[in-house]
Amino acid sequence: MKIAGIEYPALAPVEAACHRARIAENRIVAEGIMRLTLECADLARALEPGQFVNVAVGGEPRQLARIPLSFVATQAQEGLVHIVYALLGPGTRRLARILEGEELDVLGPLGHGWRLDEGAARVLLVSGGTGTVPVYAAAVWCHRHGIAFDAVVGARHRELHWAVDRLRERTSGDVVVTTDDGSLGERGFATGPALRLMGERAYDLVLACGPEPLMQTVSARATELGIPCQVSMERTMACGFGACSTCAVKTTGGMKGACKAGPVFDAREVIW
Ligand code: FES
Repeated sequence: MKIAGIEYPALAPVEAACHRARIAENRIVAEGIMRLTLECADLARALEPGQFVNVAVGGEPRQLARIPLSFVATQAQEGLVHIVYALLGPGTRRLARILEGEELDVLGPLGHGWRLDEGAARVLLVSGGTGTVPVYAAAVWCHRHGIAFDAVVGARHRELHWAVDRLRERTSGDVVVTTDDGSLGERGFATGPALRLMGERAYDLVLACGPEPLMQTVSARATELGIPCQVSMERTMACGFGACSTCAVKTTGGMKGACKAGPVFDAREVIW
């Protein structure tokens, strides 16, 4: 299906629906970064790693668009969805003020997530900034399926790192930390350690999300080495289901909507 020249797949993996979700937790976990836990059994069962939800946050009549949020983990039996979000604008700041016990209107599951392979022996996960959220969901999946992984996690400075200890609990592999200012781990971007690890170890799959130069460099090296690589493309998303044309990604197959064809793409498909 094409809208305004952009290709959207006809169907999402599981059909999206609106859900009422009770907030079980909404608390700060790092500087300007919140963890939101929603009670919603249907979403907890349906969400796949790398997909996202679109949340309606009330309190501002002029904000018509929902806020797209990635999740870090689900607990299907308990009916819980764990989301991590950054305070990046007025919408997320209003969301941060909503209290436990209140309800949210949540649309999902949305998009195509990571194409994960239960046969993989070792996976490399690479993230920078808010890209750590969908990558973390892949780490949880690998841990649950007994798949070894190494991770390289980057942020601007130490106070922004929320995932490092939790990742180390989930892998016997390496979790390499970088900060732009050198306040934690290696100074610089996640790119350097990611390239180094790809040169040292054999990986069956590389997954990356973060700034585009990071994903472009990592995916180019993975392609040179013949390692399948997927990237999660962050885009402004208004509707989340293919209706508004705000989320286009240039690909070898033409312009595609990140909200339905992605946000996860095969890296070879993306034109940077
Ligand atoms: S078309 Fe993708 S967010 Fe609206």
